[in-house]
Amino acid sequence: MKILVVGSGGREHALVWKIKQSTKFKTQNSILFCAPGNAGIAQIAECVDIKVEDIDRLLSFAKKEGIDLTVVGPEVPLTAGIVDEFENAGLRIFGASRRAAEIEGSKAFSKAVMKKYGIPTAEYEAFTEKEKAISYVKAKGAPIVVKASGLAAGKGVIVASTLEEAIDAVNMIMGDKAFGAAGDEVVIEEFLEGEEVSFLAFTDGKIVLPMPSAQDHKRIYDNDEGPNTGGMGVYSPAPVLTDELRERVMKEIMLPTVQGMASEGRPYKGVLYAGLMMTRKGPKALEFNARFGDPETQPLMMRMKSDIIEVMEAVIDERLSDIRIEWDNRASVCVVMAAGGYPGDYKKGDEIKGLDDAAKMNDVMVFHAGTALKDGKVVTNGGRVLGVTALGNGIKEAIDSAYQAVSKINWNGVHYRKDIGRRALSAKA
Ligand code: AMP
Ligand code: GLY
Repeated sequence: MKILVVGSGGREHALVWKIKQSTKFKTQNSILFCAPGNAGIAQIAECVDIKVEDIDRLLSFAKKEGIDLTVVGPEVPLTAGIVDEFENAGLRIFGASRRAAEIEGSKAFSKAVMKKYGIPTAEYEAFTEKEKAISYVKAKGAPIVVKASGLAAGKGVIVASTLEEAIDAVNMIMGDKAFGAAGDEVVIEEFLEGEEVSFLAFTDGKIVLPMPSAQDHKRIYDNDEGPNTGGMGVYSPAPVLTDELRERVMKEIMLPTVQGMASEGRPYKGVLYAGLMMTRKGPKALEFNARFGDPETQPLMMRMKSDIIEVMEAVIDERLSDIRIEWDNRASVCVVMAAGGYPGDYKKGDEIKGLDDAAKMNDVMVFHAGTALKDGKVVTNGGRVLGVTALGNGIKEAIDSAYQAVSKINWNGVHYRKDIGRRALSAKA
C-alpha cells in the first residue's frame, strides 16, 4: 500500500506515526510518503519536497507513484480543493471537499449554516462594508468579537474588550486589509464566556464517530496571557466535557451540522472539528475546522487504539456504521516547545539537544513540527518546534511525564508553557 500524508507539522508527524502502526499498512509491502514533512517525519517516512499549496505537483506525484491513499493535514489545500482534484483523477483521498471545507474557509458561511440549522452559537452579523460593520459594533458595544471571515492562519479573530479596540479591529481587517482578501467580509459576534473545548469527529457524511475531548492552550504565556498562537499544548480528555455534555454536543451541534451540510448539497466527509465554548447555557460552537487540530491530534493519536487506515477507508467508502473506534482510557498531555519570540519573529537553525534521551521514555512521543536536518543535526525551523506528548494514568501522571521529557530537551531561546493541564487538575469532574 502506498500512502501520502500532506503537511509538515506536529499533527502530520502524529498521523504518520499512527499510520505506520496500522496492520493493513504493515502486512502489505507498504511505503509512506509525506509532503513536505519535517526532520522527525523523515525518520519514519519518505519526505517529498512539495509544498502543501502545490496541488498540481502533489497530484502528479500521487499519479506517478500510484498512491493508494492520501491524507490531508492542513486547511489550505482542503479549502483550495485538493480532495476534489484527487477524486476527479480517480485517487482515494481522506479529507473534506472544497465546498465542505468552506465551513472553515468562510466564517460567514459557517455562521449562516449554524443559524439555518439551529446550531447553538454566538449571535452575529456578517458585513462586507466597513461603515456598516462599525455602526453595528457601536450599536452592540463591548466586549465583542471581530473576525475576518476567510483563512488568516489563526490570527483573524480579535476579542475586543473596549469599543475602541473593536473599531480598530474592523479598520485593520477591512481598511488596512491586514489579512488580505480574508478580510473582505467580517463576522461580528457576541462575546461568549466559558471554557473552550476541542471536539473532533470522523464523519462519512451521515455517521459521526467522535474522538475523545481535548483542551488546547491558545495563548503563548502561562495563565492564558499574551497573544494567541496555533496552540501551546493540549490535554485529553477535558474534564469539563462530562458524558452528559458530550451527548448534548453530538445531538445539538455535530449531528445537525453534518446533516445540514448534506442538505446544503455539501456532504461532509473527513474530520469535523468543532471549537466549543462551554457557556452557562450549554455548549456553543465558536467555529468549525475542516481537519484534525494541531496540537490536538498528537494526544488523540496516542490514545487511539484502532487502526486509523480502517477508519479513514470507511469514511471514504461511507461505511462508518461498520466501525467502532477504541480509545486508550489513559489521559494524554502534549506540551509544545516553541522558538523564543513566537508567535512574533523568531530564529531558525538552533541545534536541538536531548531528543534521544527524551525518546527513551516509555509512553512518550516527541512529535516534530518546525524542525529540519542540517549537517546531520536536528535544528529548529519554525515557531512551534516540538510537541512532547505523554500518556499517563490520569492527567497528573501524563503532565508529569510530559514535563519530565521536556526537561531533557533544550536549545537556545526555547519557550514552553509550564501550566499545560493545570486547569484539568483543578476541575471537579
Ligand atoms: P475562532 O478561530 O473563531 O475559534 O476564534 C479564535 C479564538 O477566539 C477562540 O479559540 C476563542 O478563544 C476566541 N473567540 C472566538 N469567538 C469568540 C466568542 N464569540 N466569544 C469569546 N471568545 C471567542
Ligand atoms: N489547535 C487549534 C487548531 O488546530 O486550529
